[in-house]
Amino acid sequence: MSSRYRVEYHLKSHRKDGFVDWIKGLLATPFVLHAVSHDMDDLTTTQRVRSQYAEIFKDISSLVSNKIEFDSRNGQLRDSEGDDDEKYELMGKSRLNQLVPTIGAFFTELPLEKAFLWEDAQRGISERRMVAPSFNDIRRILNTAQIFYFTDQKRKYHKEVLKLVTFDGDVTLYEDGGNLEYTNPVISYILKLLESDIKVGIVTAAGYDEAIQYEQRLKGLIVAIHDSSTLTLEQKHSLTIMGGESNYLFRYHEDDESNEYGLQPIDHQKWLLPSMKEWEEDDMNHTLDFAEKTLHNLKERMHLPVEATVIRKKRAVGIIPGEKYDPITQRQVRVKLAREQLEEVVLTLQATLETFQPARKIQFSCFDGGSDVWCDIGGKDLGLRVLQHYYNPQNPIKPNETLHVGDQFAPIGSANDFKARLAGCTLWIASPAETVTNLHRLLAE
Ligand code: IMP
Ligand code: MG
Repeated sequence: MSSRYRVEYHLKSHRKDGFVDWIKGLLATPFVLHAVSHDMDDLTTTQRVRSQYAEIFKDISSLVSNKIEFDSRNGQLRDSEGDDDEKYELMGKSRLNQLVPTIGAFFTELPLEKAFLWEDAQRGISERRMVAPSFNDIRRILNTAQIFYFTDQKRKYHKEVLKLVTFDGDVTLYEDGGNLEYTNPVISYILKLLESDIKVGIVTAAGYDEAIQYEQRLKGLIVAIHDSSTLTLEQKHSLTIMGGESNYLFRYHEDDESNEYGLQPIDHQKWLLPSMKEWEEDDMNHTLDFAEKTLHNLKERMHLPVEATVIRKKRAVGIIPGEKYDPITQRQVRVKLAREQLEEVVLTLQATLETFQPARKIQFSCFDGGSDVWCDIGGKDLGLRVLQHYYNPQNPIKPNETLHVGDQFAPIGSANDFKARLAGCTLWIASPAETVTNLHRLLAE
């Protein structure tokens, strides 16, 4: 089947999350067939549809557990018999992989039924008669299930199982392009994580090779850590910033005697992963040169505003919208790039680089930041792995002890938090306020 359908699916797949979409499809059946009160009273209808939604989530939880077991068995087989792709293939695919081919790895079980019932009690999902369970409902239920997993484990073992929590910056901790101000409610929760001996990393695409820019953007948090009288020095030093996805590492540092405090750069040799050490400087530079040229061409081809500017950094290249003078308000205003323009630019950039030899020898991340497009060397999966090793080189923190909170989880090629899924558990939030709500629940009791 040639088909417009396939073409359209392919062209839109960058916006879709296969797992969330699949769950949405499963929930549509009880919604269509049963969320209507024919000859039943409203309460009975709600109870019936609620139990059907709950049943579906219970079954998905079992599929997730089955996948974890399956993947772990496959992993053992691979480890014991060498890296033999053929044998790996012989084991076939987990049921969930067959049903959702784009599914990624799960590092923990997910109590989805409990999470659904909790969200339903808050938001009346099964009370709805006109609006089926939506993408956002499912995204929230998945987040809640991940939080329940960690809080249940903590209750069961009487200790914290989480060892590392990482945050994206823009949209997750503060508004797009904003700063972490003193009044931001997320600060008290970050201090609470540190107090619980959980390491905290801010893993952001924003790439600066000097501490000062991060110190300015994160000033509220840095001052709060310095002023804290409950945190020990070791806990304070457990805040790190991984900038430019996986390019620059800084650590909070304070010196009692001089009373100086701030972010301290950590030398690359102390933290680069072995695979990253193999990247040739030339390959990184050629990749960025090529991306830069592609962005200039796209600016012309897509008729982007003249104010749009291509910015080249040492480990990144991007196109930002720029500003122009508005005679009405008599101010400089930001020029807006249309959503379709941003998407065309990022997808073309990704596809072009994928066929470029030097780019194939390293890792890079192209993403659409909502108002700009970037190509960074590295990726957030590496950013997380670096921190997992940096904090404990002998016994690195594991993916099931790591939680990354971010807003950019659309599939690869247009979002940059997506890759963090390869290295840890995740919460997909849609605003800084949601980050705060989720942390509140994670740290409750
Ligand atoms: P994040 O959400 O913290 O990962 O930051 C993403 C945003 O950082 C992008 O949308 C850009 O606006 C901004 N940014 C600043 N410098 C860079 C860079 O070097 N690479 C990628 N994004 C950057
Ligand atoms: Mg972000």
